[in-house]
Amino acid sequence: MTALAHGCLVRWANPEDAPLVAAIEQLCFPRPWSFDKVHKWLSTHSRWFIVVEVYGTIVGHACWSLMDSTYYLARIAVEPRVQGKGVGRSLLSSVKKHAMDTQCTSVDTLVSELDMDALMFFKACHFRATGLHRGLGQADEDMIEMRWKR
Ligand SMILES: CC(C)(COP(=O)(O)OP(=O)(O)OC[C@H]1O[C@@H](n2cnc3c(N)ncnc32)[C@H](O)[C@@H]1OP(=O)(O)O)[C@@H](O)C(=O)NCCC(=O)NCCS
Repeated sequence: MTALAHGCLVRWANPEDAPLVAAIEQLCFPRPWSFDKVHKWLSTHSRWFIVVEVYGTIVGHACWSLMDSTYYLARIAVEPRVQGKGVGRSLLSSVKKHAMDTQCTSVDTLVSELDMDALMFFKACHFRATGLHRGLGQADEDMIEMRWKR
């Protein structure tokens, strides 16, 4: 558990968090993960799923999988009302810290070439573009591989 400034706390998620995490998914993504998908991840990947609370309310989450010393970030989201206040950076800092604690050397994620907001966010958080996956997006758009290395 990591206490952050302004009543902000990052902690491991658990299956009871599924309704609030699924609600944030609905607010943040055009193709949100369903409650069932969130619940399944929380039940099977609880060591790879964190939430951030502000004064006791969940306002964001991040989850990843682990392969060959690399964290693959599957999801990161912050409730729209608290976006732009450093919460996403705090979540990502926790992901990086967990990666380093488990001897992982990098955190990778795929971002749609059309999602300038997400690309700018990852760039501001010291991720660099390391690859292009043509036509892999949900609308057949290219996906940009973004990587943070310690
Ligand atoms: C992307 C997301 C997680 C960012 O969370 P956030 O709390 O708004 O981000 P922060 O306030 O912590 O911003 C961290 C840095 O990124 C920068 N940043 C964030 N969004 C940005 C944007 N649209 N354009 C430019 N810079 C941006 C901030 O300026 C900040 O940099 P700074 O500290 O140097 O000023 C959030 O906007 C979100 O949930 N979006 C919808 C879901 C999504 O797109 N997830 C990513 C999927 S790939």
